[in-house]
Amino acid sequence: MDTDELIKLAVRARNCSHSPYSNFSVGAALLTKSGAVFTGCNVENKSFRLTICAEQSAVAAAVSAGERDFVRIAVVTDLAKPAPPCGACRQTLAEFNKDIEIILANTAGAHEIVKLGQLFPRPFDDLEGTHAV
Ligand code: THU
Repeated sequence: MDTDELIKLAVRARNCSHSPYSNFSVGAALLTKSGAVFTGCNVENKSFRLTICAEQSAVAAAVSAGERDFVRIAVVTDLAKPAPPCGACRQTLAEFNKDIEIILANTAGAHEIVKLGQLFPRPFDDLEGTHAV
């Protein structure tokens, strides 16, 4: 699955965004090691804090299908400067792959590739063995 194809799938998912409150549509396409792709879009709610981000939707779809081995994710917005995932989404992605490749893209075709480790070098991690002082 090449970069352009993954972006195309994220754009398609973005078209399904339910974002009447922010008017900001986001799409994501998550590639797994097996070659499967799971997509997601942001889903807003009248109770604003219930909003689900596109990346989280894609992760939930993949995990629900039994896939957890994530290789790369494309995230598409219409911002001139492609936007990185929010902090919560970084933590969500780090749960499964702390250094997943992230394609930050926009609807005009611009994109930049970063690794999660660059954006989020110190996730909340490893509950076991860390409480002893
Ligand atoms: N949003 C995402 O879907 N992913 C992010 O990483 C950042 C923000 C959504 C949430 C909300 O529906 C809209 O973008 C504006 O914040």
